Amino acid sequence: MRCVSENVGRATRPGEPSEWMRCARDKITGLYVHVPFCDGKCGYCAFYSVRYQEALAEDYLDALERELAAAGPLAPETIYLGGGTPSVLTASQLERLLRMLLAKISLSRLLEWTIEINPGSLDAAKAAVLTALGVNRFSLGAQAFDDRVLQTLGRRHAAADTAKAVALLRKAGARNLNLDLIAGMPDCPRALWQQTLLSALALSPEHISVYALTNEEGTRLNRRWRQGKMKLLSEEEHLHRLDMAEALLAASGFKRYEISNYARDGFECRHNLACWRGEEYIGLGPAAASHVGMKRWTNCADLKAYGAALARGRRPPRAVEKLTPALKRQDQVIFGLRLAEGITPETASGYEESLATLQVAGLVERPNGRWQLTARGRNLADYVAVELIR
Ligand SMILES: C[S@@+](CC[C@H](N)C(=O)[O-])C[C@H]1O[C@@H](n2cnc3c(N)ncnc32)[C@H](O)[C@@H]1O
Ligand code: SF4
Repeated sequence: MRCVSENVGRATRPGEPSEWMRCARDKITGLYVHVPFCDGKCGYCAFYSVRYQEALAEDYLDALERELAAAGPLAPETIYLGGGTPSVLTASQLERLLRMLLAKISLSRLLEWTIEINPGSLDAAKAAVLTALGVNRFSLGAQAFDDRVLQTLGRRHAAADTAKAVALLRKAGARNLNLDLIAGMPDCPRALWQQTLLSALALSPEHISVYALTNEEGTRLNRRWRQGKMKLLSEEEHLHRLDMAEALLAASGFKRYEISNYARDGFECRHNLACWRGEEYIGLGPAAASHVGMKRWTNCADLKAYGAALARGRRPPRAVEKLTPALKRQDQVIFGLRLAEGITPETASGYEESLATLQVAGLVERPNGRWQLTARGRNLADYVAVELIR
């Protein structure tokens, strides 16, 4: 898909949302805001971000305010501030961002407000602003708990920073913390991975995400791997690490409610659950994705073009995909199967034959009438998706 710049469409009266957003505001469940700044680039990461600069961040906040105004009076159930690293903003920039959202959004339906935090970029002032203004879920990019591994990954934080960040957030009143971990990192033997999981559990988070390391094009890790300077784990070893995570986390009371996500009862991430269930969301900021009705679109991953378009009263350039009912159903089946709850027979309608073949192969099952991945199927979810698309 190509990013194109389009006319915004005229607002009917000054201050009213323009036609390109008006259709969405009553239906959406989630609001995602992409904050495209980091304090450097991790070796494995392909998410869109640029290096944080104070003036650039102010320009971004100006543009975001314009995009938010065009979106009209949203009333989401969840807000997710992701990135990039929202926590690299200064305390006063975070306060501006939060107040801008509070001024424009109805809180009547709001249940969950998440922010992604890099442990090295949090301080007491930021933790206080976030909790005081209503953020109630905090997702920390811990990744690992060994300084050498963190260095290999190109992280700018040390293991001790994660513990400090957790303590700061708890002191400020945080009751819902997530830790992101990466499984299958180079230079991390099994014993160290087990230690990583135990260190995460020792911090008593309510939620843990365990992402299998993906070798993304354009990253330093990918370049070093191509040059033969870095060895990655075999597929089999990778799966073993994920099995270790499931066993250890389950023994500590965490449920694997999605392939990469574990939570204590009642602490599943509502925002991501809604996305996997095919509900509608709006994304603001460069590189943010939206799904409304029969359309999906992604703002162009270009901070300059994003700001320039909005300053001229235009919609940020974006790539749009029109969905057919068949494509929408395909997404519901593939994303729905990532969840432990699986999919209903109604959602699976039209896919029964493929699902029956996958059932014979031991990859899906149908307890209680819903189609779900088996333990083997969870490890081979990408293969299952390919078989369902065929
Ligand atoms: C967009 S990042 C935002 C979090 C925050 N910037 C940080 O890193 O602390 C969300 C998460 O994606 C995961 N991630 C990014 N690139 C990945 C990759 N190539 N393989 C596996 N996980 C990855 C990391 O665990 C990261 O915490
Ligand atoms: S993992 Fe987080 S901190 Fe690292 S480059 Fe990606 S978004 Fe930035």
